Amino acid sequence: MQLTRVPGLLFGGDYNPEQWPEDVWAEDVRLMSEAGVTMATVAVFSWSRLEPREGEYDFGWLDRVLDLLHAHGIAADLATATATPPPWLVRTHPEVQPVDAAGTRLEFGSRQGYCPSSPVFRAATTRLARAMAERYADHPALAMWHISNEYADHTLECFCDESARHFRAWLADRYGDVAGLNDAWGTSCWGQHYTGFDQVAPPRKAPGPVNPAQLLDWRRFCSDALLECFEAEKAVLREVTPDVPVTTNFMSILPGLDYWTWAAAEDIVSDDAYPDPADPASHVAVALSYDLMRSLKQRPWLLLEQAPSAVSWREVNVPKPAGMMRLHSLQTLAHGADGVMFFQWRQARYGPEKFHSALLPHGGTATRGWQDTVGLGRDLANLAEIAGTRTTADVALVFDWNSWWGLAAPESMPSNRLDLRAMLQAWYAPLHERGIAVDLAPPGRDLSSYKAVIVPNLYLCTDEQAKNLGNFAGRLIVGPFSGVVDEADRVHPGGAPGPLRDLLGVSVDEFWPLAPGTAQRVRFADGATGNVHDWAEWLRVDDAEVLARYDDGDLAGRPAVTRRGRATYVSCLPDDVRPILDPFLAAAGVEPVADVPAGVEACRRESADHAYLFLLNHGTAAADVTLRRPGTDLLTGRALEGRTTLGPRDAVVLRTAR
Ligand code: GLA
Repeated sequence: MQLTRVPGLLFGGDYNPEQWPEDVWAEDVRLMSEAGVTMATVAVFSWSRLEPREGEYDFGWLDRVLDLLHAHGIAADLATATATPPPWLVRTHPEVQPVDAAGTRLEFGSRQGYCPSSPVFRAATTRLARAMAERYADHPALAMWHISNEYADHTLECFCDESARHFRAWLADRYGDVAGLNDAWGTSCWGQHYTGFDQVAPPRKAPGPVNPAQLLDWRRFCSDALLECFEAEKAVLREVTPDVPVTTNFMSILPGLDYWTWAAAEDIVSDDAYPDPADPASHVAVALSYDLMRSLKQRPWLLLEQAPSAVSWREVNVPKPAGMMRLHSLQTLAHGADGVMFFQWRQARYGPEKFHSALLPHGGTATRGWQDTVGLGRDLANLAEIAGTRTTADVALVFDWNSWWGLAAPESMPSNRLDLRAMLQAWYAPLHERGIAVDLAPPGRDLSSYKAVIVPNLYLCTDEQAKNLGNFAGRLIVGPFSGVVDEADRVHPGGAPGPLRDLLGVSVDEFWPLAPGTAQRVRFADGATGNVHDWAEWLRVDDAEVLARYDDGDLAGRPAVTRRGRATYVSCLPDDVRPILDPFLAAAGVEPVADVPAGVEACRRESADHAYLFLLNHGTAAADVTLRRPGTDLLTGRALEGRTTLGPRDAVVLRTAR
């Protein structure tokens, strides 16, 4: 289901009119129109205002807000308002508030204070969702439903008795009987054999490390429990407004929720992204998230929140320098977004976010921020035709939450320094630098459309996933510590790489994590050397060619990087993967979308008739790019060909015929 009620690219942000006297609203909508805003996200935290007492609704103010928006041609991304339960609910049902792992029930006074398993909370949210849907089903401003807000931001898990009951039911459903649970969790270890599900509890604070299989199932359960909350509200919305698309805003690459599963339940994927302006490489890290968002449903997605300038929740909240707000906005479009929205429209006067930037700053229309807002509105209008266009990638990075969760088990791994996000970034950054389009894919997805697939890590690898990788006919790289355990965190018979052994032609004799700060050298067949960090392996080659060997220390002379047919195995974490990546990409026939100098990002979207090349100069000096084909820069209307200079933090969106 697509968002069809708003043509072109979406532009706007979170709008919290309940924080302002009503006479300010007229100015809000007038200025929104002036800036070219097309959509506002409303009522995200409005539960206590919309239902001030149980079952007693006050919709009048929201009616007037929606009417005003519609009268100015602005659509609503209407929240179900369930992100923060109201005080009356918390006081009459204290069990709605979440409990931490040490057994402390958290207090009211912030936001997102709820137990995902609470039947009282769920009943109250679906009742409000129904009241909202019935009230606004026919309102012409309603374009999209926004369920709750940033699930797992503050509350990912709750350890209360209700959550324990829910966890047991989830386990009974997964394992059938307690024998199945004992088998999966390996409870013969440390004397944990259960004789009934009623003895099982969430991984509350215990004297020592908790069973890692229990932790893995807990992570799965927590993702599923919140998803049930989303689905319960969605079912109500579907019943009352079957044609209105539903989303909930994701939080980029987040460890808590398995977004592959979540995205399948959404009509449109939307994301919130807050790259740190103080980090000169932050645009690379967010590019990976944006590619994930596009890959989740293999369709355009929406950026629902970003900051126009500074946020308010870092230790030091550095503003965005001139040009960065525009450039970062264009970057989301380059990676497949069909809308650029912000937190928030009008800068707050009070509360924790009063210093968070907004499209309309405290200083009003005289500010630098307002100039940026109006400028971006113009840019987005000029780019309207890219809405709905697609991205084609030849490379996929395989990524799975189960491995991320498995790797994170405390006090039971060879090393706690294996961070899946960092492992993804190590391969993604040089691909990004070269202007190569990248999708992300879960390990079970059909990979046949790609020329090259990179699996930075697949610690948890099932037989079916191994078969899927084995069936892939293109070039494959598998990173270290992959194929180690099955879906229940049990080591595969014979050890790593388990079901990937035939594909890779190697066996891991022993994991060889490197002490922090230790450098281990590797030498490639051509004599070139490089360092690896944190991780190495003592490998036995069964049937593979050795591409690089460890060059010093205890592993000196042993294989480090191997290849069997099309499949390369990298048993370590190189400081620089390019000596492995470059020949691999050449052999796979993967080409960049443009030839770009360092600091210039290149991405392409395509329609049936046109290609749209985004060139984004993230550097603070001018950069030259030689265009392969002439075209028109949609941002300026200029015809461009050959050598083109991009100013600092400037961009080109070149339309060419296909
Ligand atoms: C999150 C929330 C918003 C707001 C912003 C501030 O993304 O969804 O309500 O708090 O952070 O950056």
